[in-house]
Amino acid sequence: MIEIEGLHKSFDGNEVLSGVSLAINKGEVVALIGGSGCGKSVLVKHVVGLMKPDRGRVIVDGREISTLNSRGLRELRARLGFLFQGGALFDSMTVFENVVFPLKEKTKLSDELIRTRAFKELELVGLSGSEHKYPSQISGGMVKRAALARALVMDPEIMVFDEPTTGLDPVIGLAILRLIDACHRRLSFTGLIVTHEIPKVFSIVDRVAMLHKGIIWAEGSPQEFVSSKDSVVREFVGEGTEGSFIR
Ligand SMILES: Nc1ncnc2c1ncn2[C@@H]1O[C@H](COP(=O)(O)OP(=O)(O)OP(=O)(O)O)[C@@H](O)[C@H]1O
Ligand SMILES: [Mg+2]
Repeated sequence: MIEIEGLHKSFDGNEVLSGVSLAINKGEVVALIGGSGCGKSVLVKHVVGLMKPDRGRVIVDGREISTLNSRGLRELRARLGFLFQGGALFDSMTVFENVVFPLKEKTKLSDELIRTRAFKELELVGLSGSEHKYPSQISGGMVKRAALARALVMDPEIMVFDEPTTGLDPVIGLAILRLIDACHRRLSFTGLIVTHEIPKVFSIVDRVAMLHKGIIWAEGSPQEFVSSKDSVVREFVGEGTEGSFIR
């Protein structure tokens, strides 16, 4: 479903991605981990077509993203949900208005149907009753949940989450991960989750990929990661995580 092949990207002579290759199968959820500043957000921006590779290819559903014209990109984006790092909502709109925004922009559904869909999605993320609040009136965890509802309301086939739990307390962070897992079971999207939640995220993903020194340094099942002998992986994942997550 998503194939990244030999992706290179530099900024002002500083190479961030030096030949990243990674394949994500349809319906699979992969966690992308790696140190701060190693290029995770840059990598996911290539997957959603917000950045173009210097070299290499990103192929989504058989189509190479950098060759798409603006119409092709629009069609791709309609099938793809992206939760930005920061999970921003539009501040001037209520939670409800935020969630209906993509439906109004990108579909021709009736107002009634849009309303029904939005209320259903808000209920699923546990935000019933907060529809008419503004982002400044709700907590950080609620903002993330509303952003998740806004991304999911389009029934995306592909979901990309860039640090969906950053800045949240551990309990709310875990609740967000469980919510992503529940949404995946319901919608079976193909997913990529950038996260520092290790080992928590291991219980909701099929595979883990670690970005280090501009390449996918290690890749495997969560179990393989926690029992890895690679010193870089061990240092990052931490000792003693084995057995600390349940699938
Ligand atoms: N648009 C840009 N222009 C120039 N440099 C950039 C740009 N975007 C990212 N970078 C640089 O690329 C490197 C990787 O950034 P990136 O945001 O992908 O890191 P990250 O792995 O997502 O880190 P974090 O875990 O802190 O979110 C950084 O050195 C950053 O300064
Ligand atoms: Mg980032």
